[in-house]
Amino acid sequence: MNVAEAVASRMSCRAFLSTPVPEATVRAILDAAKQAPSGGNLQPWRVYALAGEPLAELIRRVRARMPSNPKGEGSEYDIYPPDLWEPYRSRRFKCGEDLYATIGVVREDKFGRLLQFARNYEFFGAPVGLFFCVDRKLGLPQWSDLGMYMQTVMLLAREHGLHTCAQEAWSVWHSTVGEFLGLPPELMIFSGMAVGFRDESAPINRLRTDRATLEEFATLRGF
Ligand SMILES: Cc1cc2nc3c(=O)[nH]c(=O)nc-3n(C[C@H](O)[C@H](O)[C@H](O)COP(=O)(O)O)c2cc1C
Repeated sequence: MNVAEAVASRMSCRAFLSTPVPEATVRAILDAAKQAPSGGNLQPWRVYALAGEPLAELIRRVRARMPSNPKGEGSEYDIYPPDLWEPYRSRRFKCGEDLYATIGVVREDKFGRLLQFARNYEFFGAPVGLFFCVDRKLGLPQWSDLGMYMQTVMLLAREHGLHTCAQEAWSVWHSTVGEFLGLPPELMIFSGMAVGFRDESAPINRLRTDRATLEEFATLRGF
């Protein structure tokens, strides 16, 4: 698989097979992804990988706390700015609508939407769950570096026949996850990520999100 194929075939997978991913594969991906660039070569990424019993135990813990705390513990950062404006607002809206349409959950079906959203906290059935953290004293440029590391992980995963879904949703369970992982206080969870083999029969995996055209976001001069 070449880079263009990895980029084109990456999508957010939201239903996985239970087929395990060998530890050696996860190690190889996380290790190779360290070639991601970072300003000043700070390499600010910290990653925790769970599988098997630890993964199952974390999922159980979050599930047990959900009924008394349906919205979680609150994210430590604004996942989106309040009152999102155009064009971002419409894009976000469409992404949600298209996602729920794949599984026939209509707008009025709040419970159906909640149920699907809660699948985040099962890593959508993936056998591997990753958490990406950053030192809370670092700033926006280092968060951007962390994003580059994450994208590199997602592309390398494709080369191994795996799919992924980045999951900011995990940030709202930062206390439970932090306590479970034994995170040092200086580390903040940015995102989780489900990793595994895509369930090809799952309707939710039929979603292919659209993109603005090049003309809408790129300015080229002097060519
Ligand atoms: C940092 C980050 C966090 C994300 N968090 C979630 C999440 O919590 N749950 C989810 O279902 N999708 C999540 N996504 C997936 C986005 O919705 C998805 O990338 C976007 O809609 C584009 O679709 P595609 O990834 O299939 O191309 C996240 C993506 C990124 C990059």
